[in-house]
Amino acid sequence: MADQFFHNAKVYPKADGEAAADCFAVADGRIVSLGVDTPATQRIDLDGRVVMPGFVDCHTHLVWAGDRSAEFAQRQSGADYAATAREGGGILATVRALRAADEETLVALALPRLRALAREGVTQVEIKSGYGLDTDSELKMLRVIRRLGREQPLRIQATFLGAHTVPAGRDRNEYLDEVIEVMLPAIAAEGLADAVDIYVEEIAFSIPDMARLFAAARDHGFALRAHTGQFSDAGATAAACALGARSCDHLEHADAAAVAAMAASDAVAVLLPGAFYCLRETHRPPVALLRAAGVPMAVASDANPGTSPLVSLLAALHMSVVLFGLTPAEALAGVTRHAARALGADTGVLAPGRPADFSAWRIDRPAVLAYQLGGLLPDAVYIGGHRL
Ligand code: NIG
Ligand code: FE
Repeated sequence: MADQFFHNAKVYPKADGEAAADCFAVADGRIVSLGVDTPATQRIDLDGRVVMPGFVDCHTHLVWAGDRSAEFAQRQSGADYAATAREGGGILATVRALRAADEETLVALALPRLRALAREGVTQVEIKSGYGLDTDSELKMLRVIRRLGREQPLRIQATFLGAHTVPAGRDRNEYLDEVIEVMLPAIAAEGLADAVDIYVEEIAFSIPDMARLFAAARDHGFALRAHTGQFSDAGATAAACALGARSCDHLEHADAAAVAAMAASDAVAVLLPGAFYCLRETHRPPVALLRAAGVPMAVASDANPGTSPLVSLLAALHMSVVLFGLTPAEALAGVTRHAARALGADTGVLAPGRPADFSAWRIDRPAVLAYQLGGLLPDAVYIGGHRL
């Protein structure tokens, strides 16, 4: 006997309006049947609604303090992101604000952002550290992320991004030593992260830095991810793939060799149209090459106070179609099954055995979610079979 049987539904994945099934059952927080009438304690009539797997936002920097609205305004009148970073603004400005905030404050600032995502059908969010950039502050940030996972219903994955940039006044090698020799073992011992990420860019870290970090992170059992190709690639994406990265994120400047390396590995390409949009970039990620090579493409909000102050995965979904040329079906796969794959999670697909994370929408077909910008909210969101 299942707990709930949902019927009269149009269950994704068929993005052309044709549903994969019209009913499903849930027991113990998981889908137990799809398309077959199943006895259950509760029968719920979805009245023809489209049912989507819970959306997965697989790349965010959602824990931050302060804001960078002044920097945003300066950029709109011509200031350059990399130049701002070199002058001690950018990421380092948020580092100062985050260090000054206690855990309680950071949790309180992050909760409304998570609620905003949940309201639009997001059920799982990855959150990176990387605004602490010293041992105590990085651990504080990761503890905040773990608390968010316990204190609200969305599923949360924590990623350690100590290698986000070199903190002010520190030598790069000496800082990376601290990341590898002090932070990583402490984070592993406390179970504070699921994955390790690095920003490979001229204003941040190099390919040899990534090789050192990844070797240590792998020894501690962490999944590996990398920010590559945002402003330049220079072999970073291919190197990340060769080192076993589960995802390469940004990729605006990834070339054919980078795409070939991704295709030869299991890496997911995580596209972040919010950063592209806010920075008014013009160099697009190589979507046609990624598609032709069969590389799974995920789409994420990259929610952060600098390059992508965008707390909406639905907006990122829409932008990935308009700005990057994904088809609506690709974009929807990008915020569901491919995003889950970037997290190594079994979410993002509604099938027997998978978590009962889903949302129900009064729309005719899933493609509407990629097409309409704004004004769309689901009537109900479920995580593990529980309605939010
Ligand atoms: O994903 N690229 C590096 N990290 C963030 C930006 C962080 C910031 O500017 O605060 C990103 O775009
Ligand atoms: Fe990022």
